Amino acid sequence: MNPVDYLRISLIDRCNFRCQYCMPEGAELDYIFKQDLLRDEEILTLIKEIFIPLGFRKFRLTGGEPLLRPNVVNIVKEIASLPETQDLAMTTNGFLLAQMAEELYEAGLRRINISLDSLSPEKFDSIIGNRGKSRWQQTWEGIQEAYRVGFNPLKLNVVVIPGINDGEVLDLAALTINQNWHVRFIEFMPIGNPELFGSQAWIPSADLRQWISDRWGLVESKITGNGPADIFQIPGAKGTLGFISQMSECFCDRCNRVRLSADGWLRPCLLNETGQIDLKTSLRQGVDLAELRQRVSQLLTIKAEINFKDRVSGTQSGIYTRTMSQIGG
Ligand code: GTP
Ligand code: 5AD
Ligand code: SF4
Repeated sequence: MNPVDYLRISLIDRCNFRCQYCMPEGAELDYIFKQDLLRDEEILTLIKEIFIPLGFRKFRLTGGEPLLRPNVVNIVKEIASLPETQDLAMTTNGFLLAQMAEELYEAGLRRINISLDSLSPEKFDSIIGNRGKSRWQQTWEGIQEAYRVGFNPLKLNVVVIPGINDGEVLDLAALTINQNWHVRFIEFMPIGNPELFGSQAWIPSADLRQWISDRWGLVESKITGNGPADIFQIPGAKGTLGFISQMSECFCDRCNRVRLSADGWLRPCLLNETGQIDLKTSLRQGVDLAELRQRVSQLLTIKAEINFKDRVSGTQSGIYTRTMSQIGG
């Protein structure tokens, strides 16, 4: 089993987009009250006093949309400056990156993953639930700006939704040919969409690989990530193609991560709600940090049993109390 050394920190549950797959239509989104959000200094205390002593060295800031968090640049600076931090990354929708990429880079952020589900502005707007002025161009400029200031690797996340953007798989894959970009195709996870669980709401990565291979050929990449993606390359391409296939395969045995929600719950598995710990309440009640560390350590020892391996038998029904936007992916 992998060591668990990677913490995904959700900074805020709000988002300036409303992607179908992340905030399903009709989902009751009760946003976290301001007083229930972990404060900057509480996040830092948890990192320094709980997670680093337990061996955590990699941190990713997520949302909702992390760039909506007040003071996000300062949070980046604080985490980046800890001597134990080996990797600090962010997953964002990119909309605010055109104006923020440079200061984030200067603050010490080095890796960034940006969602981009379509190259067509109209389709993009419909996926993100935007009915006003198109948001595609500003997002695209955010991606270009992130690349310009030096984020490397620059990863683009595509959630493939049958009938919506599966026709763009080849165009999106082609982005990796001339640029050192990493495009990752993600099987849609029906979190918050229980009616889609078990249905063919997702396309197996193997099918996408076949389409790409038929067009250009496809080889396994020498680059191996430490995340859930299987990495391939179009022969001769500058960038890579990743496939994140939690619905058709099981990568739980190589899971190296846990998640901290914006309101301070520690979640051992993205797709299984067992075992969560309310760190914020304990912290605010003044529970001794050594005791809290012990509780987290205990959870890590049983983490391997809390996974998504039941998905085939259907024991995990797809009913989750939080949407993807509230977990941070
Ligand atoms: P890297 O460290 O760059 O490899 O990042 P990542 O791919 O782990 O992070 P990102 O936030 O870009 O997530 C991409 C997709 O992978 C999202 O759809 C996530 O929900 C999904 N994902 C990330 N970690 C896990 C995981 O542990 N389990 C599952 N099932 N999906 C995950
Ligand atoms: N299924 C798969 N991926 C998802 N993401 C958000 N919701 C889903 C879902 N239901 C991805 C987004 C984002 C990352 C944090 O999670 O593409 O890049
Ligand atoms: Fe880890 Fe859960 Fe994802 Fe499996 S489904 S890889 S255990 S977060």
